[in-house]
Amino acid sequence: MNHGYTYQSALASSEAIRWRIEDIVGKDKRLDFSRPFMPETLARVEPLTFLNCDEQRVLNQIRGNAYLCIFGLVEEFILPFVLDHARLQLPGDDYHVRALLQFAGEEAKHIQLFKHFRLEFELGFGTKCAVIGPPDEIARAILAHDPLGVALTTLHIEWMVQRHYVHSIKDDQDLDPQFKSLLKHHWMEEVQHAKLDTLMVESLAAGLNEAEIMRGVEEYIEIGGFIDGGLKQQVEFDLDAFERATARQLTDEEKSHFRQVQLQANRWTYLGTGMTHERVLATLESLTPKARQRIESISPLFC
Ligand SMILES: [Fe+2]
Ligand SMILES: [Fe+2]
Repeated sequence: MNHGYTYQSALASSEAIRWRIEDIVGKDKRLDFSRPFMPETLARVEPLTFLNCDEQRVLNQIRGNAYLCIFGLVEEFILPFVLDHARLQLPGDDYHVRALLQFAGEEAKHIQLFKHFRLEFELGFGTKCAVIGPPDEIARAILAHDPLGVALTTLHIEWMVQRHYVHSIKDDQDLDPQFKSLLKHHWMEEVQHAKLDTLMVESLAAGLNEAEIMRGVEEYIEIGGFIDGGLKQQVEFDLDAFERATARQLTDEEKSHFRQVQLQANRWTYLGTGMTHERVLATLESLTPKARQRIESISPLFC
């Protein structure tokens, strides 16, 4: 595939933009709970017209907290996966090993950053919000899959971050500046990860025949199904947190509308935006056109 990505250039870009957690949290840098945290294209709270503006903002913030938690979760499987892959490259090309170790170090930093924000959210929001987990069990379940399936899931997640930031967050002036700063700094380092994932997928697929590649694609779909099950549970948690935070009891009809809109909003946020990303599809197509066709045949369910 002619993308021009190299380990050396990914490492150079990463070293040029490196930031520290201390630079983006603490002191006067606080969450502002009078503002939304998530862009409406991902939160989809406005179709819930039976909620007033304040209630929509509360739900938006609950979705923001879940976003922190779900990224914390997925990064917990990406970190050991990248470390294992880096170890297999020893002894090898210096840039290759260094770029992957830098990638892993950044994911460890992101996990810590997301934890920091979650703590601040809990203190400021005032209502306990349940989240799916625990992270180590989810990581174990995902890492039990075929490495190509795990690598495709990682590729999906990191291009998805690009799409969220560039298309929905960057130009949204209503969002809380501190939450937006978290998403921006995360995105800056994920740009390199998405390129490294492309190289990792290519290296794992090298030498596999079409049937073996399609097995990896099916495992990627299985992981997506596993994540989808988690999202259904998360919608129930969000509904419960919303009712407690607003002291409002929704009617059965309102709850049913809430579940339907929010499940699809979660599917679009975590599954659809990755499965339909042009770079993900281009990588799948470079493995075999069948891989792209298979994903395109199911992605409308998650949009
Ligand atoms: Fe990350
Ligand atoms: Fe990443």
